[in-house]
Amino acid sequence: MSFNRFFIEDAAKFEGQIITLKGWVYNKRSSGKIKFLMMRDGTGLMQCVLFKGECDDAAFEEFEKLTQESSVEVTGVIKKEGRSAGGFEMGVKSLKIVSVAEPYPISPKEHGVEFLMNHRHLWIRSQRQWAALRVRAEIIRSIQEYFDQLGFVRFDAPILTPNSCEGTSTLFSTSYFEEKAFLTQSGQLYGETGAMAFGKVYTFGPTFRAEKSATRKHLTEFWMIEPEVAFMTLEENMQLGEGLIEHIAQSCLKNRAKELQILERDLSKLEILKGPFPRISYDEALKILEKRGVPIPWGEDFGAPHEAALGEEFGKPVFVHHMPSQIKAFYFKQSDTHFGDASTTTGKYAFGCDLIAPDGYGEIIGGGQREENAEVLQRRIKEHELNQADYEWYLDLRRYGSVPHSGFGLGLERTVAWMTGVPHVRETVPYPRMMNTLRP
Ligand code: 4AD
Ligand code: MG
Repeated sequence: MSFNRFFIEDAAKFEGQIITLKGWVYNKRSSGKIKFLMMRDGTGLMQCVLFKGECDDAAFEEFEKLTQESSVEVTGVIKKEGRSAGGFEMGVKSLKIVSVAEPYPISPKEHGVEFLMNHRHLWIRSQRQWAALRVRAEIIRSIQEYFDQLGFVRFDAPILTPNSCEGTSTLFSTSYFEEKAFLTQSGQLYGETGAMAFGKVYTFGPTFRAEKSATRKHLTEFWMIEPEVAFMTLEENMQLGEGLIEHIAQSCLKNRAKELQILERDLSKLEILKGPFPRISYDEALKILEKRGVPIPWGEDFGAPHEAALGEEFGKPVFVHHMPSQIKAFYFKQSDTHFGDASTTTGKYAFGCDLIAPDGYGEIIGGGQREENAEVLQRRIKEHELNQADYEWYLDLRRYGSVPHSGFGLGLERTVAWMTGVPHVRETVPYPRMMNTLRP
């Protein structure tokens, strides 16, 4: 189907033509005999100008009734106007009210976050929210494009699952008829089954964590993209990840420049996102943290100050690999040293690779190489006090043609925050779910 209708983002194609713009009043003002109506239609903003004489008298009367967010059909001629936001404006001929809005709760004045969050269903119409969510949609599109171009098969993992992937402390459970089920924390384990069936796959869907952390980086429901590839090494995994970040940044610059401008994003931060990104081992990271005055004892995970310090050190995203096994999930392949090596006498290090974004946007990618040996994996399941019976299907991958394989998960909302420069993940998803936020 093709929309036989005018949309603001296509204004250039309609210069000189009389069209009808269907949308909502963003704001209005009068200046003597001229009336200005700022209209939004979901694709952008357009100034519509009512001149006495060029526009019917009824339109002038209707103009007076219009309130913020009233819905209207405005008919007029599209003119080039360099001073207007999108480069075009409309000379109005007539105006038809669809619905006059009641006093709108969100006015141009400052509102508190709690108020805005409670009005999220309306807040998404505001310019900055609109821009951030348009960038989100572009990022989703570009991610799919990246993997599709590389010949990946999209492989959807279930949301309701019988077992945990990322530890049992952040599981949401629900009753599943006579049984208990969990909302998925990650599609990875299923992605691994897909990699053995299709070679290279990616899952893309919502994931859930009962995180009791009220930070600017944590949601309880977030979207994750998880590629998983048979025969892929840890180094290739990092290459796949940096290629993805580069593709996302380039797509945002190319296709969402207007939105990034509304968000006042410093574009140079996106332009520099070209691989290869620096790679350091966890042990090397600890030395940098010590030098920068934020030391942590070996075996502890990074917090916000440590991620910020690594960002400052490199001014670029950085991969941290070979983390302590003790802070990593059961499925990681292990190593005795902090650089390579796959002997597992001590299993001190995990074959992981996390990508830390600069400017405090935190861990964007978490991934690594998986344990492919059935006995070692069984031991790990026991060490993590998981019920082996729930993982028999997962162990089967190691019994029937096991191969080295790797993958990662990219957090969509953190990526959107980073690309847009929006400080909090709550503004990077239409309806954020957080510890204290379930409505609307
Ligand atoms: O590092 P995580 O926990 O890794 C996994 O879940 C692996 N199973 C992925 C894989 O290898 N297939 O999560 C991956 C990414 C993080 O780097 C972060 O970007 C995001 O998911 N993430 C969150 N985003 C928002 N809110 C939360 N509570 C998040 N937890 C993780
Ligand atoms: Mg992680």
